Amino acid sequence: MHFRNLLILSFSILSRASPIETSVEVGEYGDLSKRGVQQCAIVCAALEVLYPSKTLYQTDAAYATDQIAWPQQNIQLQPKCRFKPKSAKEVSVAVIAARKANCFFAVKSGGHMPIKGASNIQDGLTIDLKDLDSLSLTNGNKIVQIGAGALWGEVYAYLNPKGLGVTGGRLSNIGAGGFILGGGISFTSNKYGWACDNVKSYEIVLGSGDIVTASASSNPDLFRALRGGGNNFGIVTRFDMETHPEGNMWGGMIQNLPTSKDKLYEALYWFNKNAPKDNKAGVIIASVGVPSLGGIIFANDYEYLDPTPNPPIFDNFTAETQIGNTMRVGTYGDFAAELNAPVFSGLRQNFFTLVFKNDARLPTDIWDFWAQKSQPFLDGSDPGFLATLAMQPITESMLALMAKNGGNSLGLGSRKGPFIIINLGYTWSSPTSDNVFNALGAEVINFGKKLAQQRGLWDEFLYHNYADISQNPFDSYGAANKAQLVKTQRKFDPSGVFSKLVVGGHKLR
Ligand SMILES: Cc1cc2nc3c(=O)[nH]c(=O)nc-3n(C[C@H](O)[C@H](O)[C@H](O)COP(=O)(O)OP(=O)(O)OC[C@H]3O[C@@H](n4cnc5c(N)ncnc54)[C@H](O)[C@@H]3O)c2cc1C
Ligand SMILES: *[C@@H]1O[C@H](CO)[C@@H](O)[C@H](O)[C@H]1NC(C)=O
Repeated sequence: MHFRNLLILSFSILSRASPIETSVEVGEYGDLSKRGVQQCAIVCAALEVLYPSKTLYQTDAAYATDQIAWPQQNIQLQPKCRFKPKSAKEVSVAVIAARKANCFFAVKSGGHMPIKGASNIQDGLTIDLKDLDSLSLTNGNKIVQIGAGALWGEVYAYLNPKGLGVTGGRLSNIGAGGFILGGGISFTSNKYGWACDNVKSYEIVLGSGDIVTASASSNPDLFRALRGGGNNFGIVTRFDMETHPEGNMWGGMIQNLPTSKDKLYEALYWFNKNAPKDNKAGVIIASVGVPSLGGIIFANDYEYLDPTPNPPIFDNFTAETQIGNTMRVGTYGDFAAELNAPVFSGLRQNFFTLVFKNDARLPTDIWDFWAQKSQPFLDGSDPGFLATLAMQPITESMLALMAKNGGNSLGLGSRKGPFIIINLGYTWSSPTSDNVFNALGAEVINFGKKLAQQRGLWDEFLYHNYADISQNPFDSYGAANKAQLVKTQRKFDPSGVFSKLVVGGHKLR
């Protein structure tokens, strides 16, 4: 550590006078062996001087408690230090320091993205937004201001007693940040749209360190880019989202045997067709295979926005023979906690995605291939093994709502739906099996993609929040949207902080 560099850096952060330094250069990261180590040591030391209690090293007790994430791949990365800002101003200081020192950094909200390096970084700086989690209501309770590190469970606990809801995550431990920036499919999306379509305004720290607002009236190009743009434009510190009235709902999980497969997928097809007639309903048709069961079952999730037991929209699903049923009246938060419970957090994880036009037969054929390929791993040799194949409708109502607030960057709203989206995931225990399960996920998805193409059902859309690192979501938004995103990135991050220094997760360039 060069003491002189530290002093210069601390001084230049503190005395930063000019409002925008658009011409500042970020060094190239050609020499990966030097990546972050020396540069980030300086940044960490500077942050420690300024914010001693918010800068954590491996030797600090709190460091270990904060090294949590859904995928083990991100728990194992050891940053030079973790920084936990409490305000946008503190985020800005960290971004300026990282930029000036050419230090690689990662941004974490809930830590659920199952991509190595998405929310943590070896030898770099990890900016952990967990303490940037304040919640407040404005505009006569029409808008909830959500700190970017808040977890959805906290948001529901805050809103529900006030009779309010928001289009948030379906698991209580998912973070606001990653979920909204990728799109965000909620229980209530049939009625209100994806999460990004319900954001009225973003507060964001740019690569320059400036804290700006992106909304329909302020930086509208950035506003559109953030609706699907992930971590490519800056660090969002606050999301201002539309609320809606919400009380108790009807929902829960129903389990079925694989013998119900054809009927369940047929029901999904009809649900997708009928959804516009009753937009209060949401479904996830999910198959899971775990060694403790010795096989595969369906564990499907059904939610309905009114506390009405057994709404007819679910009749085709509920007609099937059940082996488990938790359907009941409860709050969104209750259902999000229920879905959280069986999640295999802390093991090795991957996610893959595929989208195709609504069809009753294709899901069955993909399921057969997936089950045959996954079956050998259910022998108990890895007790941490879990195979998941979840299918969800992307209804015409969701697509229509993508035009809300001026439109998003996903390119989906203009396509003819409805669609079915697959979220395929494997969970396993040991890094030595990484290649096996990454190859398996790709094999199943490629099988499904080919079949969909042969039948004229395939759609190129790759959902940011479900895509593997080998699947680039931005290339799937359509050429015009991608070009617009690149243009907006050049405008708001001319020195390339969020393309060159923030290297984890899905990158636009
Ligand atoms: C078990 C499970 C269930 C899921 N269920 C759903 C679901 O129902 N619907 C759905 O749509 N998705 C779902 N997802 C996907 C989930 O939305 C994504 O994994 C999402 O990225 C998680 O957000 P996070 O903040 O928890 O993750 P993180 O890993 O912390 O962040 C994800 C990415 O976003 C970036 N990021 C986070 N916050 C910010 C910020 N404030 N500014 C800039 N960049 C930021 C990070 O750098 C990272 O690249 C699920 C995922 C899991 C593991
Ligand atoms: C149930 O399935 C039948 C076809 O078997 C279909 O006509 C009907 O619309 C479906 N009902 C719902 C609510 O999806």
